[in-house]
Amino acid sequence: MRKFQHPLMSNNFDQSDFNPVIKLLKKKNAILTQSINVRHFEKMWSKWLGVKYSVFVNSGSSANLISLDILRHLKGKGEVIVPALTWSSDISSVIKNHMKPIFVDIDMNSLSMNDDEIIKKISKNTKGIFLTHAQGFNGLTDKLLNFIKKKKIFLIEDVCESHGAKFKNKKLGNFGDISNFSFYYAHHMSTIEGGMICTNNRKLYELARILRSHGLVREMSDNSQKQKLIKKFKNLSPNFIFLLPAYNMRNNEIGGLLGISQLKKLDKNNDIRKNNFKLFIQNLDDKKFFIDFKMEGSCNYAFPIILKTKNIKTRDKFEALMTKNSIEFRRGNAGGGNMLRQPFLKNYVKKNEFLKFKNTEHIHNFGYYI
Ligand SMILES: Cc1ncc(COP(=O)(O)O)c(C=O)c1O
Repeated sequence: MRKFQHPLMSNNFDQSDFNPVIKLLKKKNAILTQSINVRHFEKMWSKWLGVKYSVFVNSGSSANLISLDILRHLKGKGEVIVPALTWSSDISSVIKNHMKPIFVDIDMNSLSMNDDEIIKKISKNTKGIFLTHAQGFNGLTDKLLNFIKKKKIFLIEDVCESHGAKFKNKKLGNFGDISNFSFYYAHHMSTIEGGMICTNNRKLYELARILRSHGLVREMSDNSQKQKLIKKFKNLSPNFIFLLPAYNMRNNEIGGLLGISQLKKLDKNNDIRKNNFKLFIQNLDDKKFFIDFKMEGSCNYAFPIILKTKNIKTRDKFEALMTKNSIEFRRGNAGGGNMLRQPFLKNYVKKNEFLKFKNTEHIHNFGYYI
């Protein structure tokens, strides 16, 4: 594997993260599967974010999948509004739940969905909006939130790339019915692999707990609800009532301990990230690069670079220059560009439909993250 002088990410762990893990591993008969450290991390995370409930899972994609499962469970099958620029699992989770993704182009200054286009694409078949706060930028506007509130539309915020970013001084992940985070190694903080589902709604929380397990009633935290179900299914062993079809998407105690340790450093690291990003943007030549980002409340884990040119040869020269200077990069920003071009969606989008998404197309061809 090629070593870069400026890699996309280097290990975000230090000895202070590993010490509690080593201590646990040295214990006789230590519990390593989901237990008290997972619960402690969930409580700390809820407090940090400002929500009532959090459910720690094994990836951000699992958080996506469970959230969409909950949406389908509550509202039935139908359409889900999604961005053309996002991560693949935001779309996979929709189609795996037999729902239809309705794509929306992004705004260049936030890399998130354009609010007017979202509102235009809402129909009687819309079951929810699955919004991605891309690369540390806030994707919400007052106009969108007022519309969602008025029409009572279910909102899921994907905050996997934007831990600690804010809208109107409130952390992203507080505005939707559910919000999702990822703790994969590449993001603001890490549990190696991991994700979080957050909500203020007790019913959604219980569903997330059931779906994180193998669909088991015993995973519920609401004892009176649990007892009702045990009574209802009296011919089943109380420990083996599989209420909903589900897979195991649990994390473990090592992930929990890493999360606790990393979270303690998150705000301080995010302050450094914010300053670095400002400095980076200030030093970009605005004749060559797009710098007009929505900076208020942003908290980026990487530097987005968007060329102003639409010339592929100039782009190729730029890529060669980055390679020569040992800068690792990803074209298409964090998610690989225009989702509608991806082969896994060939049965869901019409041929050449991707061309309608002009801003996403520009990111696809001329956008990067480093
Ligand atoms: C916006 C977004 N959603 C979801 C995910 C999936 O997270 P994970 O890699 O933990 O599965 C990512 C991953 O990078 C992401 O960027």
